[in-house]
This record gives sequence, structure tokens and C-alpha cells, in this order.
Amino acid sequence: MDILTIGIESSCDETSVAVVKNGREVLSNIISSQVEVHKIYGGVVPEIASRRHIEVIDYLLDEALEEAGISLEDIDVVGVTAGPGLIGSLLVGVSYAKGLAFALGKPLVGVNHIAGHISANFIEHRDLEPPLLCLVASGGHSHIVGVRDYTEFEIIGKTTDDAAGEAFDKVARILGLPYPGGPNLEKLAAGGDPCAYEFPKSYPSRRDYNFSFSGVKTAVLNLVNSLKMRQEPVPGEDIAASFQKNVVEVLIDKLINAAIDFNYDKVAIAGGVSSNKALRQKLKEEAEKAGLKFYYPAPVYCTDNAAMIACNAYYEYLRGNISDMTLNAYPHIGL
Ligand code: KG4
Ligand code: ZN
Repeated sequence: MDILTIGIESSCDETSVAVVKNGREVLSNIISSQVEVHKIYGGVVPEIASRRHIEVIDYLLDEALEEAGISLEDIDVVGVTAGPGLIGSLLVGVSYAKGLAFALGKPLVGVNHIAGHISANFIEHRDLEPPLLCLVASGGHSHIVGVRDYTEFEIIGKTTDDAAGEAFDKVARILGLPYPGGPNLEKLAAGGDPCAYEFPKSYPSRRDYNFSFSGVKTAVLNLVNSLKMRQEPVPGEDIAASFQKNVVEVLIDKLINAAIDFNYDKVAIAGGVSSNKALRQKLKEEAEKAGLKFYYPAPVYCTDNAAMIACNAYYEYLRGNISDMTLNAYPHIGL
């Protein structure tokens, strides 16, 4: 019998509702981005984000059901991001999902947002199965995760300071680019020379799979400040390209070393930064050289979306991990 899972995502500045069949077939994935709302502030304003989630979530559910060609009663499982994320934003989705599950008398499943990002790969590649090693690089997280099973994870490395996406956003801001920083920095980098500047890399040791991106960010800041002080032009394209090369190389190097050291033959990427074309292209080459199979989701499943949440909720449901009405929002919960 088919199982239809509704996914609800509201952890940051995207509201999304999706319907997914048997965990992997996306029937609808409606995303309402708040980029325009937050653009004038140069970043996400949490209070505004949660209010905006409230305004649109009901309409998104209607749209998701309509596009999937089903009615509310057809839903078998209600999955929702319970954390990590912004507390006010998370609470909107969690409260909405609880109401929905209670009214329909259907099981409620609280999903970890990072596990959701990883699951994007299972949607994209229907035959992909764990175990695999996944790099989750988003605005809030940079993790190397051993995916032992659909719901069983082992964190092999993580950032000790800024997340990769956070570093992209901060460097974009230093270069005067508008929010959202990551995609805009990638566009600027396309016209630059990636070898123009050598920024410091965080390689404490080969066996260390943790990241640190605050050093490269500060190096860019110091460079831009000193150029401005000397009233010299700031070559934004070259700086963006050199910064992007630095981050991409560190992410890839650590992922591949970890795959070899921990005996994984499949590597995947997930999270907003994984939509970066330089990262995808270079990792494809490096994974091939190392004899590893490489998987990546379509850009729409890299950034925040509810289909990935429904996918993970489905597998949690199959394993009997059902939440009850005490489910809360957990802003700092780990994987
Ligand atoms: O996964 P996501 O949508 O939200 C979080 O869970 O954080 O990731 C958003 C992050 C932001 O920091 C954004 O700048 C970054 O992903 N990002 C990118 C690109 N697209 C999004 N970073 C680099 N290159 C991109 N193309
Ligand atoms: Zn995310």
C-alpha cells in the first residue's frame, strides 16, 4: 500500500509544504521564499520570518494538495522540521503540523533539518541506499556525516566556527553583494581568477575532519580593508573566485579523506552550499579520481524544501519513530 507523507518546513526563511509518495516520489513541493522580504535588511530577521510563515503556510498546504491531486484525508503521515533552526519559525511549522495530525488522526513525525537535507539525495536518486558519506553544507551547518541508515547518522567532522554558507554570506557582504550572499558570490566569482589570491586554509591535520572558515573570512576582510585604506580598487571578482576555490577545496579534501579513512564508497552533498556549481564540478572530478561514486541533489532540493523533510519523515515513520502532541521546536538540536 502506498504511503503519502506531507512534509512541512519552516526552520528559517523558506516556508514549504510537500507531498511525497513512499518516501521518494515527489508529488508536490511548494516553496515560498522570503528573500525579497529580508533583502532590505541584508539578512534574515527572525521575527519577520515567523510572521511570514504564519501568513502563507495554510495556502501552501492547499497548493501542495492540489498539485499532488489528493485531498487532506488521503494523507497517511505528517512530517515536520522540529529543529535546528530559528525558534519562532520552527514553532509555526511544528504547531501547524500538530494541529493537522491531531485533526486528521494521523501519525506525526518530528524531523531533524540536517537529516532532511541528507534525504534530498534519496529523492533525487531513487536507487541510492545507505551507507554513504554526506557533506552537509548550509547556512547553519558544515558537517561530514556517515549515513549508516536512513535514520542513523554518525558525525565525522563539523565546523568549529562559521558554517560554509555563513562564510559565503559574510564574504559576500564584505564585497558589498546583496543578500542572499552565497548565490551572488558564486555569480561574481564566475568572472574572476581563482588563483589571484592565496587565502589561508584550515588543515590542522589530515586525520582531522573538522572545518574552520573564520580564518579565510577574516583574510578577505583584511585584504579588502587594506585595499580600501590604500585607495586601491577592490577586484571583487578575483577575490570571490579565490575565496570560493579555497572553501571548495577544503570541503572536498576533507570529504574525500574521510570517505577513504572510514571506508565509504559513496559520497553525497546536501544543503544550500551544495548547489554551488564549482563545488559540484570539482567534487565530481575528485570523487572519480578517488574511485568514489558521487551523488548530488537538484538545486531545488539543496536549499530548504519540504520534500526532503517528508522523505526523512517517511523513514522515521517506518522505524516507528512517531512523535506525540508534546513535540516542540528545538532550535539547537544536533543530528
Ligand atoms: O540549506 P539552506 O537553504 O538553509 C540552511 O539550512 O541554512 O542554505 C542556505 C545557505 C546560505 O548560507 C546560502 O548563502 C548558501 O546556502 N548558498 C550558497 C549557494 N546557494 C546557497 N553558497 C554558495 N554557493 C551557492 N550557489
Ligand atoms: Zn537548511
